Amino acid sequence: MRITTVLSTIALLSPALAVSINNTLYIIGNAETPSLDLPGLTPIGLRRAQDCIPPIFADLNLGLIISCKPNNKTGTCMSANDTAVPLAASLGLVPDNHCATSSDSCVSTTLTKYAKNSTQAVLVVWDSAEMDDLLEGLDIDLPGGDDDDDNADIFSFHADLLLIKNLKQTVIETSMNCTGIDGPAPDDL
Ligand SMILES: *[C@@H]1O[C@H](CO)[C@@H](O)[C@H](O)[C@H]1NC(C)=O
Ligand SMILES: *[C@@H]1O[C@H](CO)[C@@H](O)[C@H](O)[C@H]1NC(C)=O
Ligand SMILES: *[C@@H]1O[C@H](CO)[C@@H](O)[C@H](O)[C@H]1NC(C)=O
Ligand SMILES: *[C@@H]1O[C@H](CO)[C@@H](O)[C@H](O)[C@H]1NC(C)=O
Ligand SMILES: *[C@@H]1O[C@H](CO)[C@@H](O)[C@H](O)[C@H]1NC(C)=O
Repeated sequence: MRITTVLSTIALLSPALAVSINNTLYIIGNAETPSLDLPGLTPIGLRRAQDCIPPIFADLNLGLIISCKPNNKTGTCMSANDTAVPLAASLGLVPDNHCATSSDSCVSTTLTKYAKNSTQAVLVVWDSAEMDDLLEGLDIDLPGGDDDDDNADIFSFHADLLLIKNLKQTVIETSMNCTGIDGPAPDDL
């Protein structure tokens, strides 16, 4: 209780502390999902999760994959799980999915703890619709983003979006460049 209070006070006073880790941090949303809230990924989403994402991260020294906690009642994070699992399997990792999207601090706490023990890179795979809160909790601003409310939308419309935060704390926004799936990045990204 007491520690939680102290931590949230620190976070309030100094938001940048939330992700002041040296580990490279990658963030992606879920791959393409069907309309009408149908479960699973679309055929393109499956190609992204199974064929495109694993090779991207094969040599990036990932030590931890954090995926939001799937909730099979609301559907939240089910597709983020479907996106994370094939990559995790290819790396011999098991996604850490103890963080629910409702928690403001779970991911930053998990990252901070991990960074104490490891210099390896971390990937966060999050429900695209909940991306706003994640980025806010980590105090990450999208490059060129002048309106915080646009964050979630960008991930929902661009499943290929990959955020990279490196040692210098710079946030880079790029495309996964999945062959046959992703076109050239639109100008406004
Ligand atoms: C990050 O790297 C800098 C420079 O190498 C070092 O001074 C600092 O202690 C590191 N911070 C953490 C949390 O490892
Ligand atoms: C939903 O998840 C719960 C707990 O993990 C599980 O017991 C239940 O069978 C799941 N329901 C469906 C429809 O998958
Ligand atoms: C996560 O995804 C994997 C692979 O698609 C699936 O086997 C597993 O049941 C999923 N977990 C949940 C909680 O839905
Ligand atoms: C850090 O590593 C030590 C030794 O391997 C281990 O006992 C501890 O649980 C680890 N801490 C975290 C937060 O992973
Ligand atoms: C995708 O392509 C762009 C343009 O060539 C490049 O800058 C970027 O690094 C590529 N992204 C990845 C994940 O390789």
